[in-house]
Amino acid sequence: MRVVLLTGPGGDAQGWGDLKVTEEVARAAEASGHQPRIVWVQSEADFRRCLDGPPFDILWSALYHISPNERFIGRNEDGVWVADVLDERQLPYIGSDSRCLRDMIDKSATHRILAAAGVPVPDNRVVRSGADLSGIGYPAFVKPIGESRSVGISEDSVVESEPELRRQVAFIEKQFDQPALVEEFLPGPEYTALVLGNDEDRAILPGSVGVEARHYGRHRILRADLRGVGLTRVSPAGEQEEELREVVGRASEAMGCRDHVRIDVKAGADSRPRIIEVNGIPGLKPHKSWACQLFTLHHASPAGEGEDYRRLIAGIIASAARRYGLAGAGAGGDSRGA
Ligand SMILES: Nc1ncnc2c1ncn2[C@@H]1O[C@H](COP(=O)(O)OP(=O)(O)OP(=O)(O)O)[C@@H](O)[C@H]1O
Ligand SMILES: [Mg+2]
Repeated sequence: MRVVLLTGPGGDAQGWGDLKVTEEVARAAEASGHQPRIVWVQSEADFRRCLDGPPFDILWSALYHISPNERFIGRNEDGVWVADVLDERQLPYIGSDSRCLRDMIDKSATHRILAAAGVPVPDNRVVRSGADLSGIGYPAFVKPIGESRSVGISEDSVVESEPELRRQVAFIEKQFDQPALVEEFLPGPEYTALVLGNDEDRAILPGSVGVEARHYGRHRILRADLRGVGLTRVSPAGEQEEELREVVGRASEAMGCRDHVRIDVKAGADSRPRIIEVNGIPGLKPHKSWACQLFTLHHASPAGEGEDYRRLIAGIIASAARRYGLAGAGAGGDSRGA
């Protein structure tokens, strides 16, 4: 299949990774019998040129929206959202639909949808400067409403009082131009799960995630300085595995996710899991990104991690191709790792 891999300045902050990662995705797609083409878009005009350019069978975007911002995702409320345009033009693309992507990028919307479906999430509230903060319990956890890669997360994210909370909300508004999401602090272990494929072909691959104990500070949280530097490791979830599969499966259904998402989970003081977010465009840096580590954890091939990566990419492309009834889903395109 002719697969357009769409990326741009925001590819690392918003999506699967930088241009090098996109080249790895392209190599894996090619090795699975596809014809990938990388398209770099900096503006709405570039994006429209891509859609009006050489034909393709399916598009895969590292971008939620077109933005020059390399540092963080941002809200881009008036900007162009890739999946909105693709839906308008009825073009096939890999991943969740535009409504679901918008729900996933807004962590408060995610919590609202999941809570309504009875899926456990932390107590949470959207907070802007000057808001009435009565009724918030401490410690609380404060984060940007729509970011990734632990952007904006430090020891200061755990607040013990109203003045600390106000300071952290002001910091998030100033740095990231968005409201803060204030959540119940979850002190327990952290997990992440890759959800691959759709319907009867769906596979849920959970794992524990964390860093060596000496890297944590006062709190067991994955601060921004612990991310993207080769410190985090995925390992078997052990006896939590079945409960994780169940809750992650329900979360994925409630959101209406397609093809592949990565769902992050943290345990509360009661040791029970809460969904903290659903990542619509998970990182795909070979060997490093959690999605890749999870795939290898569950489907290690005798041929090594390079082959695991190829199968992961082939599986994602195949699940989207099957949804659209496209022929030539490619080799090794089984979400269960076959
Ligand atoms: N309610 C909470 N209580 C305690 N720690 C939390 C809470 N929410 C998030 N964290 C910590 O902050 C980190 C980042 O949070 P979250 O996963 O919501 O953000 P993210 O930046 O979108 O992550 P990703 O890179 O996985 O997309 C988590 O990995 C976790 O360690
Ligand atoms: Mg996360």
